[in-house]
Amino acid sequence: MKTINVNLGDKSYPIMFGDGICQNIAKIIKPIVKYDRVVLVCDMNTYPLYGERIIRSLEISFDSVCVIPTGESIKTIETVSEIYRKFYECHLTRESLVITLGGGVVSDLGGYAAATYMRGINVIHIPTTIIGMTDAAIGGKTGYDLPHGKNLIGAFHQPKAVICDFSLMRSLPKAYFQDGMAEIIKYALIRDAVMFETLNSDEIPMRDIICRCAEIKAEIVSEDEKEGGKRKILNFGHTVGHAIETCTKYTDITHGNAVAAGMIAEIRIGEKLGITPSDTAEAVLKLFDKMGISVKADYLPEELISVVGADKKRHGDQIDMILLEKIGRAAVYPLSLKKISELLK
Ligand SMILES: NC(=O)c1ccc[n+]([C@@H]2O[C@H](COP(=O)([O-])OP(=O)(O)OC[C@H]3O[C@@H](n4cnc5c(N)ncnc54)[C@H](O)[C@@H]3O)[C@@H](O)[C@H]2O)c1
Ligand SMILES: [Zn+2]
Repeated sequence: MKTINVNLGDKSYPIMFGDGICQNIAKIIKPIVKYDRVVLVCDMNTYPLYGERIIRSLEISFDSVCVIPTGESIKTIETVSEIYRKFYECHLTRESLVITLGGGVVSDLGGYAAATYMRGINVIHIPTTIIGMTDAAIGGKTGYDLPHGKNLIGAFHQPKAVICDFSLMRSLPKAYFQDGMAEIIKYALIRDAVMFETLNSDEIPMRDIICRCAEIKAEIVSEDEKEGGKRKILNFGHTVGHAIETCTKYTDITHGNAVAAGMIAEIRIGEKLGITPSDTAEAVLKLFDKMGISVKADYLPEELISVVGADKKRHGDQIDMILLEKIGRAAVYPLSLKKISELLK
């Protein structure tokens, strides 16, 4: 079993990787956290696939399982309320434990409910998607969407552990695999030019790549938990990407495709400003093409600009854009909204 640590003083925790490690989940978590009761939060896809296995290992009954619907459109206050109801019915206390089993939607919602129920109870994430293992389950950001913007409500709540069992990913549909690849390409672009080369090669060592991405995220979060500085580079592709998701009402495009389209838009902004080398968008589009990742998105440019203007990371008239200085290196560039809208046209 490989372990990477997120180093945050008394909030530090391990990210564990292995094949089949969820067979005996209770044995892994007992030395990490004490708990009186446990609730498993999963979705309608992950429950039938893996729920029974986890329930058996945890020795809990179905009464302690909260199964939520699937998809970005359910990242709402209504779903959070359903999770709270389950916590209440299960008589959770501040000594209890929440375990999430699923992709980023489940860890964001289950993590947020855990962050806020009784002012915070412990959570462990078992991510089942590439996005979950490399990004969403790591770093403590939790939350849900409002109709006006993605992840507008949220809380920082670090998990006690993240347990990544590669065997749970065998059932991942191709579209979500590609979504994960888009986020993996993001890590290569912001931090690891060698990974970008590897992704362009014929043989991609997926497990090593997933661990490397988790390691990059762990390093960045360890240095800047609350996104005061360095953590912002993880938002590369996401300022425009999240706006595309909002414009398409979270239904017509997956997160990975929106981020892929967002990365190309943001690379082009960097190219226009002379910060990003001029052949970068072309090289990235070539890699997207090889991976079968689409950057097609259906939205009105004026609407996109207006949503970008409402970005929660805006300060005054400016937005911190993350631009590539070269493949493998990103930095924060505050730009005025006026400038961004000109460059997006
Ligand atoms: N908190 C963070 O730091 C952070 C970081 C990145 C992304 N996110 C959030 O994560 C979400 C995207 O995550 P995601 O792509 O994992 O989406 P997701 O949770 O919607 O999962 C994608 C789909 O795959 C299904 N699924 C999950 N695991 C499966 C498996 N092993 N086999 C078969 N089907 C499976 C799910 O039921 C869902 O239908 C977005 O809401 C995004 O905002 C959060
Ligand atoms: Zn993302």
